[in-house]
Amino acid sequence: MTGQSKTVKTADASGRGTVSGFKVPFPARMQPYSEDEINAVIEVMRDSECQTQGQYLKKFEDDFKSYTGANHVFAVSCASSALRLASILCRLGPDDEVIIPAYTFCASAIPFGMTGAKIVWADIDPDTWVIDPADVERKITDRTKAIVVVHLLGMPVNMPAIMEIAEKHNLRVVEDCAQGPGASINGRKVGTFGDFGCFSFHGAKNMTTLGEGGVLTVRSDDDARLVPGLRHNGCRGYEGDRARYWVPAMGDVDIDIEGVWPNKFCLGEAQCALGSASLRRLDKTNETLIAQAEKIKVALAEAPEISFAGIPKGHKHIFHQFVMHFDGAAFGKDRNDLLDILVNEYKMRTIVQYYPLYRYPLFQKLGAGQHDCPVLEGWWDNTFSFPWWCGIPDETIDYMVSSLISAITRLKQ
Ligand SMILES: Cc1ncc(COP(=O)(O)O)c(C=O)c1O
Repeated sequence: MTGQSKTVKTADASGRGTVSGFKVPFPARMQPYSEDEINAVIEVMRDSECQTQGQYLKKFEDDFKSYTGANHVFAVSCASSALRLASILCRLGPDDEVIIPAYTFCASAIPFGMTGAKIVWADIDPDTWVIDPADVERKITDRTKAIVVVHLLGMPVNMPAIMEIAEKHNLRVVEDCAQGPGASINGRKVGTFGDFGCFSFHGAKNMTTLGEGGVLTVRSDDDARLVPGLRHNGCRGYEGDRARYWVPAMGDVDIDIEGVWPNKFCLGEAQCALGSASLRRLDKTNETLIAQAEKIKVALAEAPEISFAGIPKGHKHIFHQFVMHFDGAAFGKDRNDLLDILVNEYKMRTIVQYYPLYRYPLFQKLGAGQHDCPVLEGWWDNTFSFPWWCGIPDETIDYMVSSLISAITRLKQ
């Protein structure tokens, strides 16, 4: 990636960012902005009187609606805000349970924990590495009110199976699409199956709106009616014409759900203009990531110790990350032995994520430390991710692949 400083340490908690001493870095951004994207932001800075809640918001929401086919689209400040809104709209409370995959980023679960509902961790499918519908169904009780699914790493969850379970048990479904914009099942985009879809345009995502941003998609008209107030401090206009536009006030402030305080989760005009421009190249970004992943998988076919998620027929996995599993049990080695070589000797900024959420102090201290996820427990500790961004040069891919094969050969000796 161009524009990377080779000396300054800027890695965030996820491990992305420039860290000195690496031959292959793990950039914090997927790719540089295009001129089209840069110009979109400058246009708002120069020409738009309105800096928030104006024409660019409307256009971005319309563009996202056309792109995904969602019924209703609301741009918000980040996916965490979208998830928070979804958790409020699910009307969860302390008497309820919500099923959430344990293998995901913490933001998938925190908004649901905030409602007071009990988090029940779901296991992963051993083949696709995303939430296992059969385990979800096993964990449903008469207190279960919602299922959160995460299209993690860009892999679509088996939504037809999830929706069948949800309909059978009358449950709400929230799709966390933070890592999956453009992922689809038989052409139907993620974020259009469940009651809600939550997208992220955080700086590291396949598209970003200046580091932060998000979208909430909503299926029903009834839920959609409640979002503008919940998103914007309960603000709304008065109905009808008023001779004195300032009486009784310039606008009204009210609640949308009995007893629920509203939030401020708006996205500014420059970010919305950028969102429209980035959406225009999202498919190209995703296709490049898919092609890179394919090249690595083919090149590693001769390394049976390395395995990849199986992609079900009709599923479009957009490879927000490139995660692999290492099996060195036959020669008494594990992922950490492998990374010792890749990181320290071959200087690849290889990373490991996402730690099963129930292992974190946050969830343990807030009462969500219990788990029953044997597949995840048996799998996660031997996973790792190659350095990953859009447009990795062929010679870098070759270097990473040959380094991995060489490291395995050495571990076997
Ligand atoms: C799976 C998942 N869910 C939710 C989020 C939260 O997104 P945001 O940073 O836009 O709030 C992220 C961000 O990394 C994510 O990866």
